[in-house]
Amino acid sequence: YLNYQVPRTRKEIFETLVKGLQRLEYRGYDSAGIAVDGPSKTTSDRNNNSICLIKKTGKVKALDEELYKKDSLNLDEELCTHFGIAHTRWATHGEPSALNSHPHRSDKDNEFVVIHNGIITNYKELKKYLINKGYEFESETDTEVIPKLIKYVYDNRENDSITFSKLVERVIKQLEGAFALVFKSRHFPGEAVATSHTLSFTHTAQEYEPDSLGQICGGFNSRNRADSSSAINSVGDGRAVEFYFASDASAIIEHTNKVLYMEDDDIAVVTGGKLSIHRMNRQAGEDPVRAIMTLQMELKQIMKGNFDAFMQKEIFEQPESVVNTMRGRICFDTKKVVLGGLKDHLKEIKRCRRLIMIGCGTSFHAAVATRQILEELTELPVMVELASDFLDRITPVFRDDVCFFISQSGETADTLMALRYCKERGALTVGVTNTVGSSICRETDCGVHINAGPEIGVASTKAYTSQFVSLIMFGLMMSEDRLSLQKRREEIINSLKMLPELIKKVLSLDEKIKAIANELYQQRSLLVMGRGFNYATCLEGALKIKEITYMHSEGILAGELKHGPLALVDKHMPVIMIIMRDACYTKCQNALQQVTARSGRPIIICCQDDTELTKNAYQTIELPQTVDCLQGILSVIPLQLMSFHLAVLRGYDVDFPRNLAKSVTVE
Ligand code: F6R
Repeated sequence: YLNYQVPRTRKEIFETLVKGLQRLEYRGYDSAGIAVDGPSKTTSDRNNNSICLIKKTGKVKALDEELYKKDSLNLDEELCTHFGIAHTRWATHGEPSALNSHPHRSDKDNEFVVIHNGIITNYKELKKYLINKGYEFESETDTEVIPKLIKYVYDNRENDSITFSKLVERVIKQLEGAFALVFKSRHFPGEAVATSHTLSFTHTAQEYEPDSLGQICGGFNSRNRADSSSAINSVGDGRAVEFYFASDASAIIEHTNKVLYMEDDDIAVVTGGKLSIHRMNRQAGEDPVRAIMTLQMELKQIMKGNFDAFMQKEIFEQPESVVNTMRGRICFDTKKVVLGGLKDHLKEIKRCRRLIMIGCGTSFHAAVATRQILEELTELPVMVELASDFLDRITPVFRDDVCFFISQSGETADTLMALRYCKERGALTVGVTNTVGSSICRETDCGVHINAGPEIGVASTKAYTSQFVSLIMFGLMMSEDRLSLQKRREEIINSLKMLPELIKKVLSLDEKIKAIANELYQQRSLLVMGRGFNYATCLEGALKIKEITYMHSEGILAGELKHGPLALVDKHMPVIMIIMRDACYTKCQNALQQVTARSGRPIIICCQDDTELTKNAYQTIELPQTVDCLQGILSVIPLQLMSFHLAVLRGYDVDFPRNLAKSVTVE
């Protein structure tokens, strides 16, 4: 955060950094830290500048409170030029603690401080080397080698005129792994250097657990994506010269909507009120100019509005988010569906050997939910794959495969690795993401933006229904010239038109669902059963319940009941059954018989006025009916609402479930 014309007080600087971190809270973290210039300089000797480092476990709020306890820091002191950095850490290895949290420092005098997202895979070798040189380490992190290494390079410099960026360049030449880094130094006051480097698929990440995932909100330069692969610098508004780096645009959107994305091996330097970017390993003729983009995201989009939690807000946004997903893509009169990002590849896709849908968690469930209709509409074999398992199996992939990478964030490490794996094998890669400019967006050959709007609650809701709709649209686009499928297409397209209204009807059941949650919230377990088009709803509903209520929950394919899960059923075990009027209706009724015969008391999610079912149910949640392949969009909403109410009743933080992060950028 650099500022040349309008001085800022230290308090304002704190507020900017803390606010930035708070905007990134939704990504999950367990500790936070900040580094700013220390007490005012008494001499013009640049080495006399001090850096103050404050770190705290727990919420950003705890860090914020800590900042004001520092008596030595004059909050009202005005600073004309200043650069501060802040970071939230999510530990994956090495306990959450103030020592392990970022910024990390070179020494007790804080000569160099660094924040880092990602993983340094050769940190053990570097650490050994530096320990031999007499450096003392204070944390268990891989990151700490970086500030130590830059101090080592600085102390051993050949001449005093070495620049900050040159030092950084020398350091990163020694680093292996993936990193987005922002450096601050008391030897270079008011100057910032940031860089990023992506992990290649071939590296042996399994051998090294990264210590953390992090989110960066750097004083003037702020963004590195969670995967540490790129950064945004925002461009000042003319009143003052300010630059930000951040992991995510939401951290800086209230200051500017002008951003540029850093690319791999870019080194961005802000000094003297100017930003410059140069490139490591630059090829001859390569143009290091980065285009400034204007973000459309508005702050109000990322605020909670009148809702108690982001998740709740996002559930209730679904009538609009599905419209946004379809906007400009479906002509309801001509029954034409065009996904602009795929149309040039359609021929190739139609000729492919098979479609492979790859994702994690909820995004994987979107693939499960649409597999059957995609098989029907594309007449191609469709495989659905959990990204981690797909990689573990070293699954054979061929040049004539088309691989879809479904990811809300576009940054999920497993999905990204699977993408690189498929690319290396020559398959056509298609991204289905909610985040424009994300790594998956950039690295796929083509793709679809689901346009659900920012999703902040860790539990994914509106992204699921928008992924669902996007994949259905893909199927519709593929089947446009199939005469035999026209009736089916028409039925689906007409139903898509009605979808927002039907979602509103489902949302109007909220009070009823809350009442049912009231009866269930003290239970330890909750089974969710269904089959066919609604099997994915069971998986997704159970995942929602698990992740935010911490109850045990299992999504069970009703056809598998007799093969094991039935043993769990007795009068004490709450069971939710999804029984819609589709081809599986009779089979689901059989499952219901099996449950009631064991004194189970099923809560049935069914179609309106299904008297046949209501008489066997302990409770019913009656939904409007739509075409079979879209019914899963309606049937998942009661489970999203149920998990929300259960979590609130159990007293948990709905938006930030323990142990989970919004973007999972480690394998
Ligand atoms: C569950 C949830 C996660 C994500 C998964 C993949 O509510 O949010 O299961 O779906 O981590 O994340 P993306 O879609 O960002 O790749």
